[in-house]
Amino acid sequence: MVPMFKPLIEQEEIDASRESLEMGWLGMGSYVARFEQQVHALIGAPDRHVAALSTGTAGLHVALLLAGVGPGDEVIVSAFNCSADFQAIGWVGADIVFCDCEDDSLTIDLKKADALVSPRTKAIIVMDYGAMLCDHDAVADFAARHGLRVIHDAAHSFGSHYKGRPVGSFSDICVFSHDPVKTVTCLDGGTIVVRTEEELRRVHELRLLGMQQPASVMYRNQRAWTFDVERVGFRYHMLNMHAAIGLAQLGKLDSIRDSRRGAALAYSAALRGLSSLRIPAGDFEGMNPFIYPVRVPAEQRDALREFMKAEGVDTGIHWQPGHWFALWKDCRAGDLSVTDRVGHEVLSLPLHSKMAPSTVHKVADKLHTFFARGG
Ligand SMILES: Cc1ncc(COP(=O)(O)O)c(C=O)c1O
Repeated sequence: MVPMFKPLIEQEEIDASRESLEMGWLGMGSYVARFEQQVHALIGAPDRHVAALSTGTAGLHVALLLAGVGPGDEVIVSAFNCSADFQAIGWVGADIVFCDCEDDSLTIDLKKADALVSPRTKAIIVMDYGAMLCDHDAVADFAARHGLRVIHDAAHSFGSHYKGRPVGSFSDICVFSHDPVKTVTCLDGGTIVVRTEEELRRVHELRLLGMQQPASVMYRNQRAWTFDVERVGFRYHMLNMHAAIGLAQLGKLDSIRDSRRGAALAYSAALRGLSSLRIPAGDFEGMNPFIYPVRVPAEQRDALREFMKAEGVDTGIHWQPGHWFALWKDCRAGDLSVTDRVGHEVLSLPLHSKMAPSTVHKVADKLHTFFARGG
């Protein structure tokens, strides 16, 4: 079976895990400090601050709190997004406002978002999707025009570049995910990138039960026993072993990115001739693609998934739109016609780091076979 996702766990990750366990400090410690430093160096933004967290979802929650979003506020978000974003909005007691996505990039349609802004709107969440980025200059213009905070959900775009600039280096608040299937995994983990030292201090407080002990103490594998707690906090910090695995992954980021981009390009070359299939546009320059999403005629998608499975190829659906779920069906929304169509058409093909070219060709051949026999 060709799996949808295949973690890149090699000797480096196994050695790093063992070393971190043998060190005897399992919680947040020196590996976390090093992981944050390396992520910071990687995004190359001296005017930004990085904090490691337990998950990307925790990062979204913390980002909304930093943005001052709370009960009575509205957050505009594409209905074509991961449930994590919708849940995080609920956790801070705010209301979701669903916006449509663009037909090409499948990222939020800012032209439609304009009409959704109300006096209650506090923030917009924008998400890079699969192998495609939002128009982040337009996002910054939009936010400035309406006086909104921006939460950039970059769970899919760690290691990618927007107009030559590393993702994470230019947004208001940026959140990465390092969960089990992401391009750079920590087993589970997230990072948040913020603009000010004050925001960084808030993140440190929020991620560790509101404790006001300096992170620098824990980064030496120690803890302060006396400190104050003034505000609510969560248990959202990253663990040493997770950071150790993340560091091993960061060491091979270039090969992860090159191999994933190579596989995405190989898919595009092999599938371009299939008129029933819509492939992602572009050549993925500077990108570290997380998934390779295609669009198939809605009425053929289930049959195609069944056929691929029978032929030994797993596929995925990213995603069912937010307003299709019972919990969010009554949220305020604009025209969601593109999202409704895309939700029935979208299909993710297997994409792995260091994926063998023969695997890409196997998947592409199966797709050709399916459509050649009429679906
Ligand atoms: C777009 C997006 N945002 C957020 C998340 C949540 O990240 P995590 O799984 O690290 O909590 C995911 C996870 O798949 C995602 O795809």
